Amino acid sequence: NLTDQLADIKHQEVELSKKLGIEKCMIVSGDSDQQFKIVDEMGQLVEGQLVSVLPEGKNVIAVMGGVTMATIAKALTKKVAENRELLFVPARGGVGESVDIQANTVSSQMAKHTGGQHKALYVPEQLSEDAFGPLLKEPAIQNVIELIRCSDAVIHGVGDAMKMANRRDMSESVIKMLRKNQAVGEAFGCFFDEHGKVVYRIPRIGLQLEDLANMKCVIAVAGGSSKAKAIAAYMKHAPKRTCLITDEGAANLILKE
Ligand code: G3H
Repeated sequence: NLTDQLADIKHQEVELSKKLGIEKCMIVSGDSDQQFKIVDEMGQLVEGQLVSVLPEGKNVIAVMGGVTMATIAKALTKKVAENRELLFVPARGGVGESVDIQANTVSSQMAKHTGGQHKALYVPEQLSEDAFGPLLKEPAIQNVIELIRCSDAVIHGVGDAMKMANRRDMSESVIKMLRKNQAVGEAFGCFFDEHGKVVYRIPRIGLQLEDLANMKCVIAVAGGSSKAKAIAAYMKHAPKRTCLITDEGAANLILKE
């Protein structure tokens, strides 16, 4: 019955948090690889978490891109902005992926759905150092970078390594290297092997893995059995304060390992 099912999920959430060494996990039933619509339910949990942890007043929220994040954005409502002034910023510049799932778009969509504000960062993520320097001196860009660094919260996805490398049109040589090093997961531009070792880092501007240490609220959203390995690998780096919002598809496999 439903009560037993809920008790089971609660138990799994506690086990998963212990296993991953993080503060909190929330699991929706089902596997988003099979049924994508359960990502909407993950979105409702993201909303609940934001409502319960964000203080009243002004909050700057940095967000990453991806299909999951773009879907979460649409599930948020004005409830998050009750008694709060929200400013969404992309946690990084644009990557070589379609515009509708870039961090800039996710950030503007979250602002639209919650009734908050947003600031865009018009810098491609992968740039040569020569092009980088002058751009970083632009006041408009500096201003957003500063906001990202001092943000109060971050919401991000975790990706399957090879899928991310292909989606971002990374060079054949980098893809080969990732394969050789058995990369399984990606988050914040870092690729991890299953032991959590960073095997490659995309040179990029925006939020770095290390910046998470200072954030008050970190929400990771990733589900589907195909992401189990990626999630487990990234969590070896995640700050303890992380709240993971996932589904049974990923949770069951991680707990089985
Ligand atoms: O960095 C991780 C990716 O943004 C996750 O993307 O939600 O499209 O799998 P996804």
